[in-house]
Formats: sequence, C-alpha cells, structure tokens
Amino acid sequence: MEKIGVLTGGGDCPGLNAVIRAVVRRSHALGYDTLGIKNGWAGLIHNEVEPLTDFSVIGILPRGGTILGTSRTNPYKKDEYLQQLKANWQKFGLNYLIAVGGEDTLGVAHRLFREGYPVVGVPKTIDNDLAGTDYTFGFDTAVQIVTEAIDRLHTTAESHQRVMVVEVMGRHTGWIATYSGMAGGADCILVPERRFDIHDVCALIQKRIARGRKFAIVVVAEGAKPEETHGPITHGTRLDEFGHERLGGIGEWLGKQIEDITNIETRVTVLGHVQRGGTPTAYDRVLATRLGLKAVELVYAKDFGHMAALRATEIVSVPIEEALRQKYLDPKIFEDAGVFFG
Ligand code: F6P
Repeated sequence: MEKIGVLTGGGDCPGLNAVIRAVVRRSHALGYDTLGIKNGWAGLIHNEVEPLTDFSVIGILPRGGTILGTSRTNPYKKDEYLQQLKANWQKFGLNYLIAVGGEDTLGVAHRLFREGYPVVGVPKTIDNDLAGTDYTFGFDTAVQIVTEAIDRLHTTAESHQRVMVVEVMGRHTGWIATYSGMAGGADCILVPERRFDIHDVCALIQKRIARGRKFAIVVVAEGAKPEETHGPITHGTRLDEFGHERLGGIGEWLGKQIEDITNIETRVTVLGHVQRGGTPTAYDRVLATRLGLKAVELVYAKDFGHMAALRATEIVSVPIEEALRQKYLDPKIFEDAGVFFG
C-alpha cells in the first residue's frame, strides 16, 4: 500500500484537525496508508511519527490545535536536518507528503518539490495573508473571537468613558484587525499595511468625543507601525528559525500615547493566542475539510508542487509557489471600515 505522510507546521489555528481528519478519511477510502508526522518538519527530522487510522481521527473535527503538534523547525536551516529528513523519508517508506502550513512550511514544501519530492500543500494561517487562496481556515474563527471581545469591551468602555485599545494578531497584514473592527464597530483600526500618525489617531478619538460619544474602541494589528518607528514593536530580538521576530507591544505603546496626548483614560487588551485557540467556527470546519479532501485528490492525480486553495466558492489546485507571496488587505475593505472611524 502506498503511504501518505501528513504534517502541520508553523503557528496552529482552529481547523487543522479538520484537515487531518479529512486527509485520513479520504486517503483510506482511496487505498492509501497515512502516517502522521509530529511537530511539523521536526518530526521528519527527529523520527517522531505515528500511523493514523480512522480511529485516530474520531472526535477531532471540533477540536482546536493540531493532534499532530506543530513547530517552526526549518529543515533548510542546517545540512544535517535536511539529510536526516531525507533519510527518514526513506526509512518511513513515505510515497507522498501533505504539508499543512503557512508561508514558511509551504516554502519548505516547495523546495522539497523542486528537489523531486512528491509533496502537496494545504495553506494555513490565522492571519489570512497567503496569496493563492481567497481565505485561510482559522481566520473566520479568529474574527469571531475578536468581534466578541470588542462587543464586550464596548459596554465597559461606555460605562467608564474610556478608550479601549485592542491588540490583535496580524504580522504583515491587517485582515483580522479590519474584519473584526468592522464587525465590532471599531472607531479606529490600525494595520501593518499603512503607517499611522499617532496625532491622527488622537484626532479621530477627539472628534468622536466632540460628537458626544464619550468612549472609543481602537483595534490595532500587532504588526502596525507608527510613523515614529522603523519597524514593528517586538519582544526582544530573538528570531525563530525562519527569521521572524516575536511581535507584541504596539497596544501598550498606543495606549500610553493616547492617554498622554488626549488625557482620556485608556486601557489596553492584548488578545494574543486566545485568537488561535479553541473550536473552529462551522465555516472554518467546512473550509478545512474541503481543503484536506482536495489535498488527497491532488496526490491521487499526481498534481505535486500544488496546493488545495479556495477561489470564490470552489476548491481548486494552485502551485504552492503562489502562496509564498503576501496577500495584503484589500484597500477597498479598509476604506469601507474607515467610513465608521471617529
Ligand atoms: O503567523 C501567525 C501568527 O499568529 C502571527 O499573527 C503572530 O505574530 C505569530 O503567529 C505568533 O506566533 P507564536 O505562536 O510563535 O507566538
């Protein structure tokens, strides 16, 4: 029997288990064995695998996280990693591999494919910023979680007549900030795609106060950059194996500036990994399931170097390479959200 390996790499997000379940069920129906590779590429390097049966995936559809575990291990970081990965590919008797991940994981998948390995991909990022697919699963869940938080912050902001700053995920793009800000009725949204002037932000808040609305909600993506700084605000200088900094801190910075400039009491909420945890929405479960099924169909059709992707309402095959570019926020959506600022 031919064997398909499956791994999940990079930051987790709700819907990964739905992909794994779909991969396993469709693979077995088509006569393949499935091997779960633990903790992203690390499992293939360090011999951490587990055979997946239909029994292994019972009950995982609504579960957040990934039963396989994940990591940001980069096999191209060290020669020995790559050699171990290739040796283990043989040792485990893998015929094909389905890599579920974002830009980094799919970048590795693409390089392996270029070296002749039969790999297919499933795009994944909570940030919704991969080109080649209209939406990524997990994004809808994150937007739902942030919107609920904004709704809750509204009532306490209004009671205390405060500014509430909400820091959300979004390393390079403001998809989560803009969608949740729009859904939650934010008075200002700050995104990585547009540098902002803190005085413009304060002017928006003051305009709102002058209209008689004595509180405000500001949603800021973690990667948003004020004009004063060169790059995003980070926690220290440590980089992961793909060279990414750990972001965070823009909310605190913003809250202090707003309070100093406007003299309005301001509080900051950092939603952090709450956005990535827990059960996926129905939309994400369906999207993730359809992508997982399609990935196995790509293997079956020997459509290697491709990934399953959403285009309008269809799940289609697109070259993995397409996902290695950023999908920035549609400026029109941001402008639409901006109609309600201030
Ligand atoms: O890339 C997705 C993402 O959630 C980013 O929005 C965020 O900067 C990063 O992952 C956080 O990663 P970690 O789980 O390593 O803290």
